[in-house]
Amino acid sequence: MAHPHLELTARPRRNRRTPAIRDMVRETELSPAHFVLPLFVHRGPDEAIDSMPGVNRWSVEGLVGEVGRAADLGVQAVVLFEAAPDDLKTPTGDEAWNPDGLIPQTIGAIKSAHPDTVVMTDVALDPYNSDGHDGIVAPDGTIVNDETVDVLCRQSLTHADAGADIVAPSDMMDGRVGAIRETLDHHGHTEVGICAYTAKYASAFFGPFRGALDSAPRSGDKKTYQMDPGNSREALREMELDIAEGADMVMVKPAGPYLDVVRRFAEVSVVPVAAYQVSGEYLMVKAAAASGWLDEQAIITETLTGIRRAGADVILTYFATQAAELLS
Ligand code: PBG
Repeated sequence: MAHPHLELTARPRRNRRTPAIRDMVRETELSPAHFVLPLFVHRGPDEAIDSMPGVNRWSVEGLVGEVGRAADLGVQAVVLFEAAPDDLKTPTGDEAWNPDGLIPQTIGAIKSAHPDTVVMTDVALDPYNSDGHDGIVAPDGTIVNDETVDVLCRQSLTHADAGADIVAPSDMMDGRVGAIRETLDHHGHTEVGICAYTAKYASAFFGPFRGALDSAPRSGDKKTYQMDPGNSREALREMELDIAEGADMVMVKPAGPYLDVVRRFAEVSVVPVAAYQVSGEYLMVKAAAASGWLDEQAIITETLTGIRRAGADVILTYFATQAAELLS
């Protein structure tokens, strides 16, 4: 057979020919420095979470050990969530700002064992709210905005007092970033940052997380405060507001199904962009891998690369430690 020869000047495959050439021209690299590991703490022994295989609810001591294992692999940031017992849950979620609560204790324990690890905390009422909502629920079922913001400010201050580096309001109330900034500054915490959950969608991908915290709404859904999955222009509006109010980072959540929003943020944001690969995204990979249908390690790397390529500087992911191990 004769050698057919196309008259091509551009042959993109030349840049894919060898591993060394591919490594040389790759635009997006993964590094554990960009990962944030979400961790769950509770009053009790370390235990597996049924709805999230491979993820634990930790005692304070167990959690500090996990922070150390992550740090050894280059994961230098964690975000904390508390699974609170029912008897600590009230309609106004006051446990959220208890200075002797479990989150302040955990922050202190991490900071004394691993002072260089960046400690982020989740700011919202759902772990402590007997209604399972991120804000206070009025008798008519409305999630009240301004009263909630007041409690979120107290919660943020409690976390900052305990030594948190960055507070991350995940509640989607209007005006909370500005109010939290003012509260922190007023109390001398000018160096404590705010990572705003800016475009947080009303997503079914949060299901396994709510199982981990037993924090599902007791009635209704979160659609009056979390964003409609059909919208992205509105995400830009939230972004402008959060940055104007003093956010140091803006987050898109979930990540995988909203990469277009990550990209829109990355194109215009003047602050770093974070994306949260949430519990449902984690679980899909774990479930498919457990049944032998997908190659877990390859999928982890590919999903995280996709999120970075879309424009995220920071990725919150339950795979942080596992991915760091794969990269080492
Ligand atoms: C609560 C909060 C949620 C998540 C992070 N903070 C759940 C929710 O809003 O219902 C979800 C994280 C995940 O699914 O991994 N404010």
